[in-house]
Amino acid sequence: MRTKFPDTSRRREDVIQALEAMKAGDADWQGGRVPLFVFKGSDTATELTRDAFSLYFSENALGRARAFPSLQQMENEIIDMALDLFHAPADAAGFVTTGGSESIIQAVQTCRDYNRAKRSAPTHRGNIVMPVSGHPAFDKAARLMDLEVKRIAVTGDFTADTDAMDAAIDRDTIMLVGSAPCFPFGVFDPIEALAEVAQRHDVWLHVDACVGGYLAPFVAASGRSVPAFDLGIAGVCSMSADLHKYGYAPKPISTVFYSAPAYAEHHGFEFHDWPNGRFATTTIVGTRAGGPIAGAWALFQHLGRDGYTAIADELMSGMETYRSGVADIPGLKVLGDAALSIVSVGSDDVDIFRVAELMQQQNWVPGLLQQPKALHRMMSMLHVASMPDYLGDLAAAVDRVRAEGGDAKIQAEY
Ligand SMILES: Cc1ncc(COP(=O)(O)O)c(C=O)c1O
Repeated sequence: MRTKFPDTSRRREDVIQALEAMKAGDADWQGGRVPLFVFKGSDTATELTRDAFSLYFSENALGRARAFPSLQQMENEIIDMALDLFHAPADAAGFVTTGGSESIIQAVQTCRDYNRAKRSAPTHRGNIVMPVSGHPAFDKAARLMDLEVKRIAVTGDFTADTDAMDAAIDRDTIMLVGSAPCFPFGVFDPIEALAEVAQRHDVWLHVDACVGGYLAPFVAASGRSVPAFDLGIAGVCSMSADLHKYGYAPKPISTVFYSAPAYAEHHGFEFHDWPNGRFATTTIVGTRAGGPIAGAWALFQHLGRDGYTAIADELMSGMETYRSGVADIPGLKVLGDAALSIVSVGSDDVDIFRVAELMQQQNWVPGLLQQPKALHRMMSMLHVASMPDYLGDLAAAVDRVRAEGGDAKIQAEY
C-alpha cells in the first residue's frame, strides 16, 4: 500500500524520534560492520566537517559565482591544493564534482569532445579500453554517451594487462583507463606503463584515483611504498579523486583534473538559448550542496599533510594487523598486492561465500567479489577498532564451514 501524504502536522520531537527508530534498524556502520559506503579519519575530523557543513547548510554551490563567492574561493583553493598534492603541471586544471561517478562521467565526456574536436572524421562511435577491474561508472558514462567499453582481463596479480590493453586499442579508441587502486582488489594498475601505451597510440589516459587519490600520497609520506599514479606522469590526461572517501569530507564531493588546458576546455556546460540567458555549470547536476565543499576545505586546513599522514599511518598499521590476522587463519589468502585499505580475501579450501553468510549472521555486512570468489572490504578508521572481533568471527566461520560445509545462497553485490 502506498504511504499517504500526512494530513496533519506532527511535533518536531516525535519526528526526530521516528527517524531515530528507523535508523536503529540500519547496520552498525560506526562499529565497523559495513565494509564500504562509509569512511572516517578521526573523531576530530568528523566533528570539524559536521560544523563546517552546518555553516553552509543552505548555500547552493550553483550560485557560487553570483551569490556565494566564499564557496567559489574554497573550490578554487581545494583544486589548487590538490594539484599541488598530485604533482600536476603548472597549467593543469581541476573541478569539484559531486562524486566519483560524476568525476568519471565528466572526464569521459571531456575526452569524447576533445576527440571530436581533434578528429577530421568525427562520426565514429568511440570506445574505452579498460581493465575488467575498473569501476562501472565508465559503463554508465558510455551508456549515456553511446560509447563502447572493452573490458580486458587482468593479469595473475589482478593488475591491468598492458599488453592486452595495447592490443585492444583500435582506430575508435578514445580512452584508456587505469585505477589507483581498483575497487575489487585494491591493487594499483601500472599507470606508467599504461601512459607509455597511451602516448604511443595518441590516446587519452584517465587515472581513476577515486579511492587512492587522497590516501596514497599520505601512505607514501608515512614511509610505505606506493606505486606512481598521478598527474606528474607524462601521458596522464585526466584523473578522478574522491574527497568523500579518503579525503574524509562529507558526502557528496569529488574532484576531477586535466593535465593540460587543451583537455580542460572541453569540461563543463554553457547554454544561452532560453529566457534566463547564460547558464553555465562545471557539474552535471545544477543545484549542489555547499556543505561538502566547506567540509573538505576545513579538513585540508585542519589536517594538512601532517594530519592526513598521521591518519594514513594509523590506518595502514591497522591494515597490517588485518593482513597478518588473515594469514594466520588456515585456508585464507589475500588476493594480490593490495597497496592501501581495500583488501580481498579468497580461499582454495573453503567456500568463502558460505563463510560470508556466517559472518552476516554475526551482523557483519558482507562485501563480496564474484570473480574470483572473495570477501571484500574497503576499510578506514571505522574498521580498525573492531578488527580483532572481525578476525575472531572470521576464524570461527572458516572452521565451521570446513567442518559442516553447506550451500551458499548469497550473491556478490556492490
Ligand atoms: C575505484 C572507484 N572509482 C569510482 C567510484 C565511484 O565513486 P562514487 O560512488 O563516489 O560515485 C568508486 C566507488 O567506490 C571506486 O571505488
